[in-house]
Amino acid sequence: DPTLQQVAASKGKFFGSASEVSSLNEAPYAAILGTEFGQITPANSMKWENTERNQGQFTYSGGQSIVDFAQSHSQTVRGHTLVWHNQLPGWVSQLPASQVRPAMENHIANVAGHFAGDIYAWDVVNEAFNDDGTFRSSPFYNAMGKDYIAYALRAARAADPNAKLYINDYNIDGMGAKSDAMYNLARDLKAAGVPLDGIGIQGHLAVQYGFPYQMQQNFQRFADLGLDVAVTELDVRMQTPSTTQKLATQADYYRQVAAACAAVTRCVGITVWDFTDKYSWVPGTFGGEGLACPWDDQLRPKTQVIDAIRTGFGYD
Ligand code: G3I
Repeated sequence: DPTLQQVAASKGKFFGSASEVSSLNEAPYAAILGTEFGQITPANSMKWENTERNQGQFTYSGGQSIVDFAQSHSQTVRGHTLVWHNQLPGWVSQLPASQVRPAMENHIANVAGHFAGDIYAWDVVNEAFNDDGTFRSSPFYNAMGKDYIAYALRAARAADPNAKLYINDYNIDGMGAKSDAMYNLARDLKAAGVPLDGIGIQGHLAVQYGFPYQMQQNFQRFADLGLDVAVTELDVRMQTPSTTQKLATQADYYRQVAAACAAVTRCVGITVWDFTDKYSWVPGTFGGEGLACPWDDQLRPKTQVIDAIRTGFGYD
């Protein structure tokens, strides 16, 4: 059977996974990561707390290990993430408001500058919205208002002119108040000439919440603004234990996401938020939920899920 990357590539798209640096040293994990996928996102190692824990002191070793692994397996890297309210060292929140913008721009200049040339796309700004579509309170929003997003995108373009620049968020998978807010932001940024190349649609789905409303149409409206779309953090969790019905629904959601991406020319690819339940973030965040990934916690492929992804991409 073709790999997920081969099936996606037959539609001109990539299929990737998020990974921890520590997983790269685990031979069975690395064997799957290196063969099934065409793209890697560092799950944590390029985040602010791991790259500039103390102001002005930069650490790139974790992110560099991901880049090196990807390059030796002919894979691209999505950089994740430059400006986010979470996994942010305490010193940023303690800055006087007037110093937040220079600190943010310096962070971007250094991190995106260091990895320039090695990053296919950056999640420049992550999770800027609340679920009701209002802007989320953060040290950046509180210091600069929504203009922080344009400042961040401009700084990223200056630091790495070849990387595709994204804004990334969750619960914008289908039509709704939050994706409307993202749409309006993207439209306004494009109209103002701010460098924005794509929208990252995280894709953290749950069997018990139903499938997002009009996913394909939602992808298409961003594409129609002249933007790429990527599914950046796909997983489909469920309340444990599983049942035959929940597993069937899960596989169907994976199929529907692949089909939505396949149907939209400017959907460039799909990334799962780690490929194995062994390293999924879900059980640590949602008590009683899990089993979200396409490989189980013993690194065994879930053939029902993987076949469904292939079907979604149009492979029989
Ligand atoms: O490294 C420390 C370790 O030293 C310590 O002993 C341990 C005990 O808590 O924590 C470890 O850090 C954890 C880190 O992951 C690395 O494993 C943090 O507690 C934990 O909070 C952190 O979780 C990450 C989460 O982002 C934080 O919000 C997940 O791994 C990561 O998968 C997750 O990824 C996010 C995306 O960046 C954005 N979208 C949502 C997605 C899922 O939450």
